[in-house]
This record gives sequence, structure tokens and C-alpha cells, in this order.
Amino acid sequence: MSFRAVETIARKRDGLALSTEEIQSLISGFVDGSVPDYQMAAFAMAVYFRGMTPVETAALLGAMQHSGDIVTWQGLGQPTADKHSTGGVGDKVSIPLAPAVAACGVAVPMISGRGLGHTGGTLDKLESIPGFDVRLSLADFQKMIAEIGVSLIGQTDRLVPADKKLYSLRDVTATVESIPLITASILSKKLAEGVDALVLDVKVGSGAFMKTPAQARKLAEAMVAAGQAAGRQVTAFLTAMDRPLGTHIGNALEIIESIEILKGRGPADTRELTCRMGGEMLRLTGAVPDLAAGEARIAQVLDDGRALAKFRQLVAAHGGDPAVCDDPEAVLPRAKVVQPLLAWEGGVVASMDALQVGMAAVHLGAGRNRAEDHVDPSVGFVLAKKPGDYVEVGDVLAWVHASSHEKADVAVLELRDAVRIGTEISADLLPLWLDVVH
Ligand code: URA
Repeated sequence: MSFRAVETIARKRDGLALSTEEIQSLISGFVDGSVPDYQMAAFAMAVYFRGMTPVETAALLGAMQHSGDIVTWQGLGQPTADKHSTGGVGDKVSIPLAPAVAACGVAVPMISGRGLGHTGGTLDKLESIPGFDVRLSLADFQKMIAEIGVSLIGQTDRLVPADKKLYSLRDVTATVESIPLITASILSKKLAEGVDALVLDVKVGSGAFMKTPAQARKLAEAMVAAGQAAGRQVTAFLTAMDRPLGTHIGNALEIIESIEILKGRGPADTRELTCRMGGEMLRLTGAVPDLAAGEARIAQVLDDGRALAKFRQLVAAHGGDPAVCDDPEAVLPRAKVVQPLLAWEGGVVASMDALQVGMAAVHLGAGRNRAEDHVDPSVGFVLAKKPGDYVEVGDVLAWVHASSHEKADVAVLELRDAVRIGTEISADLLPLWLDVVH
């Protein structure tokens, strides 16, 4: 009997569980065009309201994962691992982490995304390095992994086409925030990428998809269960995104901070995330016996120059200017105007709202409102103070990097709105590490 999408949509609308076969038929019909966008949009909304069982989520994930090419790493002679963050403000961890893990002997074939809304994207950040090309074919990607053990590219048309199509529909039908849809979307790409182990960073707070620890834990549990059911080693960490991560926000600026981390320096929170997530990638692939040993290995390659040497190879292999490793400020695009935000009173920086900082960065041109928007690589913020720091009146809280004085003036006001100065650090501030799901 021929597949009738309307019946599947109706069953999901009525809260019934779907069979694996009908989910597969729906996804293959969507990819070949026999299920039109309007039916898929109605299906996404039905899932948004009715949810999916773990078995349905696994079926959706499997159907999406197999909708295009599948990468395999047989014969590589090295374990493979990847890390994915659900996205945030100032989250550049993938950039120092990938070469650091590769420097420890675990290959990192990373397929990354672009920034959308207030969240930044790894590809946009890397493209701020002159010449850096993220649009490699899968064959070139595989060659680079075999040669240097690390590569970061964008999703190709042939990799998980079902997700590419479905994500753009979800984006305009208010159906992004659905745990089974997010799980299938993220994991289908990571599983198609063929890695043995996956570390997920599920961000929590105003600057994240998941605003509360309870929501984030649900998403983490769904992703870990689905990844493990597919035979992969998966760990999810829940980490704070109620304030920005690190000190630099904006594409080229985040490369500067990443290089600081790769030189064994940089802000403590970015380094801690790099060491722990990288350490967990080493543990999951069996390269170290436990997480503490993994963290120590990553810290060592950051401190002794091996991670930076691997990053230099990565930049050169992608066509970028490796001199960025020596003098990033001379190589990267720089903003025309740099203006300070000064403390308007003395005290303690009580909080700094990640969403507001992220939106102010988008208004400067660092991010996108729509997928087709261009980003300005040079603009953003450098935070001189973070929550918990003491300030006196007139101290620099942050530097605004802008393309004009007008834009800098607006950003200074917007950033000021995101910061609270008080007598003590806000009691609501989340701990950097909230939870872990194995
Ligand atoms: N990132 C993805 O790739 N997919 C989602 O659904 C949400 C975030």
C-alpha cells in the first residue's frame, strides 16, 4: 500500500506512537519531494506538541542519518571523537579543543555549524582567518583527517539532507524547541559523521536554547540515550550560559582568545571547558583511563605547544594564514572603532546577561538574523570584567569593537543594559558545571 503522509500526521496529532516504517517513509518522501513542505511542517508541529517516545526518536534519527552520505573511518588506525555544543555566546571551545584532542592521538573530524540569532558558529569564527576554507568535499575532509587528524568543515549537501531541509522548515514554523526534533537533528549529523565517541555540551541559561537546568537535563538524557542506542560512546555535560563564556565575543575576537588558550593562557572558564570536554573525548575513546588523566593530557598539550602546532597545521591545510598563530591581531580583520564601556558605579559585577550580550553582538554585525545574512568578522566585545570581579567607577568593563562610532554608541548602551553592578555576585548565577549525563 502506498504511504499516506496525512495519516501519519493525523496519528501524531492524536498522540499515537508511529512505527519505524512510517517514520522512514515520511523522511524519505520529504527528501525526494513526494512529501511537501507543508505536510512536514504540520508533522513537526504535531511532534512539538505530542513529543515522541525514545523508540520513535531513534527511528527519526536513523531515517535522517541515512538520508545521505555516511562517513566511515575504517582503516584510519586512530579512534575518532567529536564534541557538539548546543550553542551560546562566546563559546569558542571547539576551536582550541579539536587540535588539542588531535595532538593527543584521537582524530577529530568535526562538522560544524554557522551562527544563527544570538549564538555564534564555529565556521564563521574560523572563516575570519584570511584564506580559511570550510567548504571541503567529504573526500578532502577524509584525506585531511588521515593526514593531520583534525579538520572542521560545514555540512555538505550530501550529508544528512533531511536535516538541512527540516531544520530550515522548523526555523520558520516555531518548531525548533522540541526535544525529539533537536535530538534527531544534532545526532543524525554526528552519527553520519561516523565518530566513535561524542561529547555534548548542553548549555543552560538565558543565552542557551534550554533556559532551565531541568529542560537541559531532559535534552541531555534524550541525546545520550539515542546516541548510546546507536552504539556510540556519548557523554553530555550541562554548563552555564547565563553569562558569556570567556572574554571575547565576535568572530575574529574569538579566534584571538582561542589562540591564547592554545598557548596555555586565556580565561579560566574557556580553558576549563576545553580541558574537561577534551579529556572526556580521550576517556570515551579509551586513550586515557579516567577523566582526570584526560584533563591532564589536554592541559599538557595546551601548555607545551603541541596543541598550537596542530592548530597551525589545521589552518594551513584549510588554506588559512598560519601566521595567525604568531600574531593574531596583525593577521585578523580589525574593527575601525574600539570604544570602552566604563563602570558607572563601584562594586561587584553581579551578573552579565548572555542573551543581551549576544543580541548586542548581532546588532554590531557579528551574528545573523537570517541564515543568508553576512557577518562582519571584526566586530564584537572584549570583556575586561566578568561576574564576581570588583570594579571602581570609571574602570573599563568591556571594549566594544565596531564598524562605526554610531554602532559603537548603541552597543555601549546595550551592553550596559546587560550588566548589573551590585554589592555581591548574583545568587542566581549558575555554576559553570551543572551536571553530567553518561
Ligand atoms: N542545532 C541543530 O543542529 N539542530 C537543532 O535542532 C538545534 C540545534
